[in-house]
Amino acid sequence: MIKHKVIFGEEELLASDGQNLRNFLKKHNKKLHNDNSNYLNCKGLGTCGTCAVKITGSVNPPNRIETFRLKLPPFIKDSKLRLACQICIKNDLKVIKFKGFWGEEEI
Ligand code: FES
Repeated sequence: MIKHKVIFGEEELLASDGQNLRNFLKKHNKKLHNDNSNYLNCKGLGTCGTCAVKITGSVNPPNRIETFRLKLPPFIKDSKLRLACQICIKNDLKVIKFKGFWGEEEI
């Protein structure tokens, strides 16, 4: 089975090919959702935006729902953030979670 390296913070994890990034990180008890968004989130529907992360590595292009959500506040145009719940792991990735409630960079 094909495995991919996922670096999250200081940790390096191994994911199976095709795993959903949000589900993978939550399964490994990684802090993908900040503050109360750990409880107040859409559970992976792509509508709340609280699973936003910065990803280095090749991933699927944003679908319509992800594109729509990332156009709404608090996200800023061209932030390059992605929604972990809409990402299918197909390559080695580096994932960064910023500190804002939604995972946005705090200014
Ligand atoms: S969990 Fe809500 S957008 Fe990803």
